[in-house]
Amino acid sequence: MLQAQRRSRYFTSVSQGIARISIIMTLTPADIEEIAAQALAAIAAAIDLDALKEVRISHVGDRSAIAKANQALGSMEVSARAEFGKVIGKARGAINAAFESRQSALESERDARVLVEERVDVSIPAQRVPRGGLHPLTILTNEICDLFLGLGYRVAEGPELEAEWLNFDALNIPADHPARTMQDTFFIEPLDSHLVLRTHTSPVQMRTMLEEKPPIYVICPGRTYRADELDATHTPVFSQVEGLVIDKGITMADLKGTLDHFARSIFGPEVKTRLRPSFFPFTEPSAEVDFYFNGRWVEWGGCGMVNPKVLRAAGIDPDMYSGFAFGMGLERTLMVRHGITDMHDIVEGDIRFTQNFGSGIR
Ligand code: DAH
Repeated sequence: MLQAQRRSRYFTSVSQGIARISIIMTLTPADIEEIAAQALAAIAAAIDLDALKEVRISHVGDRSAIAKANQALGSMEVSARAEFGKVIGKARGAINAAFESRQSALESERDARVLVEERVDVSIPAQRVPRGGLHPLTILTNEICDLFLGLGYRVAEGPELEAEWLNFDALNIPADHPARTMQDTFFIEPLDSHLVLRTHTSPVQMRTMLEEKPPIYVICPGRTYRADELDATHTPVFSQVEGLVIDKGITMADLKGTLDHFARSIFGPEVKTRLRPSFFPFTEPSAEVDFYFNGRWVEWGGCGMVNPKVLRAAGIDPDMYSGFAFGMGLERTLMVRHGITDMHDIVEGDIRFTQNFGSGIR
């Protein structure tokens, strides 16, 4: 194969040699002038750099007629060589000079055109696209989830359209319990579907206990609903966060320590918390948790030790396990932390309000 290739290359060069000689033998000075005239005409006719490149290949480069004539000089008789060489040299000089000058003329034409066509007016006012951002409630929710994830909790979620049984009965809130009406529940028609818009995030506690075995450490943020009118301090659609811990030997001291840590991370290291005795059907004992911030005590939410009846309903042995739970409103938390005085600002979604909290995008 290699041999064959070599041989064919050899024959090609021999036959080119013969062709060269035959060209030179037949060319006259008039032919050279004709070749040069054609080259000069082609150079002058090239309308742009691409066209000039083509012209270079056919009329100026190594394979052009003038280059071939020049190469063939070497095989001419010495007497004829000098004179013919002068003719070719002159022609080549003229062609090269014409080519160079056409090239630089076309280049400056192109540069001038590019300057105009690609002009950028830096003084035109830019179209400002404002960056999107998270709602401050979402930012707060993320902050709380991050905090508890760092403590080894898991984030648990449940549906906003909840079974009445999980929202009330399973949490030891019987049908005739005032808490049901107290919470101004949105019942879903038909009523025998026994579905409600969840009035709190506490049903997620029950869902978690039914699905998992202790130890359980969960934080459950979510949207909740009560039939309230929207005013400066109330909204029918609001948000809560629920915490639940079930393990061996959990006491109220664990609850207090967790709430302290939670409050400090949300409101700063100076904040204090206190527990006031209270009642919730699903915790025993129960308490309200308040925090002291900017010179006053603020009610934060409810908490307590999970009622053994609730543990039993979830199939957890209250003699082996105990636990605590807490739940608080996120709108209230946000309002106090940022000095927001009108709930409308939180629910209306005006970006002039939300922008003050930064984008929240990490
Ligand atoms: N679910 C109660 C409410 O919405 C708040 C609450 C109280 C949650 C005590 C708890 C708790 O987890 O232990 O008013």
